[in-house]
Amino acid sequence: MRADGDPNLIVYFGGQYMPLGEARVGILTHALHYGTGVFEGIRAHWDEARQELFAMRPVEHYERWKQNCGILRIAVPQSAEELTEITLELMRRNSFHTNVYVRPLAYKCAERVGVSPDDEDAFAIVALPFGDYLHAEKGLHAGVSSWRRIDDNAIPARGKICGAYVNSALASDEARRCGFDEAIFLNESGHVAEGATCNIFMLRKGKLVTPPVTENVLEGITRDAVMELAQRELGLLVVERPIDRSELYVCDELFFTGTAVGVAPIVRVDHRPVKDAEIGAVTRGIHQLYFDATRGHLSTYLNWLAPVYQSRTTQQQDLNSLVGSIAG
Ligand SMILES: Cc1ncc(COP(=O)(O)O)c(C=O)c1O
Repeated sequence: MRADGDPNLIVYFGGQYMPLGEARVGILTHALHYGTGVFEGIRAHWDEARQELFAMRPVEHYERWKQNCGILRIAVPQSAEELTEITLELMRRNSFHTNVYVRPLAYKCAERVGVSPDDEDAFAIVALPFGDYLHAEKGLHAGVSSWRRIDDNAIPARGKICGAYVNSALASDEARRCGFDEAIFLNESGHVAEGATCNIFMLRKGKLVTPPVTENVLEGITRDAVMELAQRELGLLVVERPIDRSELYVCDELFFTGTAVGVAPIVRVDHRPVKDAEIGAVTRGIHQLYFDATRGHLSTYLNWLAPVYQSRTTQQQDLNSLVGSIAG
């Protein structure tokens, strides 16, 4: 799915909250020409029963973002906790009562021509109402891309670096034009790496297998969550090892994971059925667990979530009791 920005949406830009329509960068901005930015993707899920919006592991997302900014030597002075607070306030200012996607972007902002970056950095945070990224209810048909995954020694895939997403855009465009729902990248060694915007897992001989983080993949936070859920809740053995392309054709189950896609079943690869082309029981189980965990339905995983509105109520209560105690 695409999410277009309403110009009245409140965004965080230049250290202030302002309408999207007023947040503008110059045509000579370094990142616009050379891709020298680092972004993040964070989801917040709306739970109708509790009338609450839960941001999923925002502090970890911001920690990853700050580390990745370090790869490009982009400075973000705020701590991950401060950035989380800014983000929760941003969602409150927009009064979101629906699923939301948050897009932080830090970038080289000097306005001049020349590839070598200056030390002028800026960042913005945009939060948008956002539904399903891929329509995966019936399972996806994925195709192995003719484009190889970028190598760590060229542009680190773990970095969420803007310029690197040309690689994902090429693969995604090719996949859709070839009639697939999503692309699967092989890396330069010919092993399975990941999707264009998501990590990949396969079930083979009773084990859940995913490529290790050294195979030119993004170190996904959903990947990490799914590994924990599969081990703790389903008692599955999770193995990180290289995956051959042909294993995709003989495995029992296959699915993508990511902030945007969630847990998305793959039922066909390169015109071959994954087992019987039905969504498998393990994929269904993990999908449900992830859904419940991200909506605050599983008490074990509440520490993954930052409630958007309750945190304000709690702050307001703290403030009221402080004011009360001072007045008393
Ligand atoms: C290339 C790529 N791989 C994997 C992922 C999944 O990572 P996460 O689960 O942290 O969203 C993403 C999404 O951000 C991505 O862009």
